[in-house]
Amino acid sequence: MSDILAGKVALITGAASGIGRATALTLAREGAAVVVADIDAPRGAETVATIGAAGGRAHFVQADVIRDAERMVEAAMQEFGRLDILVNNAGIFYTVDLLDVTFDEWVRAVDVMYFGTFRCSQAAARQMVHQGAGGRIVNISSINAFLGMPQSSHYNSAKGAIDQLTRCLAVELAPHGILVNGVAPGFVETPMAIVNGINEHETPEFQEFYVRRRRIPLARPALPAEIAEAVAFLVSPRCTYITGHTLVVDGGLSITF
Ligand SMILES: NC(=O)c1ccc[n+]([C@@H]2O[C@H](COP(=O)([O-])OP(=O)(O)OC[C@H]3O[C@@H](n4cnc5c(N)ncnc54)[C@H](O)[C@@H]3O)[C@@H](O)[C@H]2O)c1
Repeated sequence: MSDILAGKVALITGAASGIGRATALTLAREGAAVVVADIDAPRGAETVATIGAAGGRAHFVQADVIRDAERMVEAAMQEFGRLDILVNNAGIFYTVDLLDVTFDEWVRAVDVMYFGTFRCSQAAARQMVHQGAGGRIVNISSINAFLGMPQSSHYNSAKGAIDQLTRCLAVELAPHGILVNGVAPGFVETPMAIVNGINEHETPEFQEFYVRRRRIPLARPALPAEIAEAVAFLVSPRCTYITGHTLVVDGGLSITF
């Protein structure tokens, strides 16, 4: 347990599982008090219990990024009295052909990831500006943000929009000392990722594209904790002059073919 984030309060969305959970554990281990925000109450409570058992401080709020952004910030204020760090991590992934995707399916992806990132960033930034002590926002993007892929135009578009939002937020919040960056993972071993088998959304074509043809120079998917380390750097006092940047953490996947 280091104390590099001692005195800081971090709000992490989608922190009941995968990358968000690992980020919550990592930031808590480095001394931050963590608000675990997720729609999944049992797993959110488990994340908080795990942090507590390791000697950290955490609080769970059951909340949806689409409609509960203010309530998440209020939870941070009520429980820990301030907010210094926001990690916009909540996300959903499903595959559907471009010719078949419905308006509702498209909007759902954009709502959770793009609109949710905007709403939570706006609510958190208002509080950070009010506090007057700067802050950090990290948006979890994906290499899908800048790659074309079949059956995920809704997801890839939402992630591409997040990268642009990262740049716009960075410029607009810079005068307030709020640094805004992104992390773009490749394949990560989480419940969302398709690395060990076929999930119910997956077609043989999708499996062929992602699994058999995939090229990862480091020859393995990432662990969630490896993505969390990148986030931990971007929110730490070690990072003072990077803003508006999205850091690719993909084992080299996106630089080869
Ligand atoms: N796993 C990968 O390979 C991978 C790769 C690139 C990017 N990502 C991104 O990383 C982030 C985390 O993904 P993960 O792999 O850990 O997935 P995951 O499914 O393990 O976790 C996602 C979490 O988000 C929560 N969530 C979903 N909708 C929500 C909402 N509306 N409000 C609040 N919480 C909500 C879920 O309940 C879940 O706990 C996502 O933004 C995802 O797009 C993942």
